[in-house]
Amino acid sequence: MDTHERAMSSSESPRGSVGIYGWRKRCLYLLIVVLVAVVIVNLSLTLWLLKVMQFSSDGMGKLKIVEDGLQLRGRAMVLDALVASTIRSRPGAPISVDSSHNFSISARDHMGRTVSKLLLGSDHLECLARGFRVTDSKGEVLFSATRSEVEVGANSLRVTGGAVFEGSVQTPVVRADSGFDLRLEAPTRSLQVKAPQGVAIESRAGDISASCLTDLKLQSVAGTVRLEAANVFLPGLREAGKGGAPSGRVSQDVYQLCACANGRIFLAQPDAVCAADSDVCR
Ligand SMILES: *[C@@H]1O[C@H](CO)[C@@H](O)[C@H](O)[C@H]1NC(C)=O
Repeated sequence: MDTHERAMSSSESPRGSVGIYGWRKRCLYLLIVVLVAVVIVNLSLTLWLLKVMQFSSDGMGKLKIVEDGLQLRGRAMVLDALVASTIRSRPGAPISVDSSHNFSISARDHMGRTVSKLLLGSDHLECLARGFRVTDSKGEVLFSATRSEVEVGANSLRVTGGAVFEGSVQTPVVRADSGFDLRLEAPTRSLQVKAPQGVAIESRAGDISASCLTDLKLQSVAGTVRLEAANVFLPGLREAGKGGAPSGRVSQDVYQLCACANGRIFLAQPDAVCAADSDVCR
């Protein structure tokens, strides 16, 4: 308090010269020097920072401030989530998304639950959705799959390997590719062809052959069985009086054709009566 009052009185005295003397003055100089040094260091740090960060009037390095936002020329690494409403490529440039493990896109409903998802895994592509549809540019369905039905809308479905159907196949036509045969096979069980309004087997330019190990039956409940041809051959009929052995045309050219009561037909010599012997009708 004492020195303070003395300083005040000396500065206020009209006769004393105005100023600070002694160690105070030196302190003041020191303060100014320190301040100037701090300012210089500050300024040079600022300049260094501006140079290192490549600040310019329109941005910072590769990051430019443009009219409607920011523009970054170079790589940007966002190591956590990136929130955006649209991701779009530059006009005329493709966009490619490259992931080192899985890549997935998912859509959520208004409650935030995932309702559909597309996952591109390291060895498979998985689509999680209630339905799957592929359409062409006109909107016509090419392929659609739901839980109840799979629909192929293309003009033809080509399966290059075999196709296995656990249930039935419903189709109006089964047709072989032109130039290829068509086979219907059941290698270890039976095959049935059924149609209440008629079955037609036709070969316009070739034979029809039916062969089997045991009986071959042609049966008509209310109609007739017609064999309509200029030539009808029944080779191998038995001949009466030869012990039931199949007849050859060794000795004769012409035979009588006779029938047993049970419908079996057999041959008899042309000059003999049409009589069956003991075993030709059995
Ligand atoms: C990739 O996806 C599969 C199937 O969802 C998952 O089992 C697997 O853990 C995922 N791999 C990585 C690295 O996330």
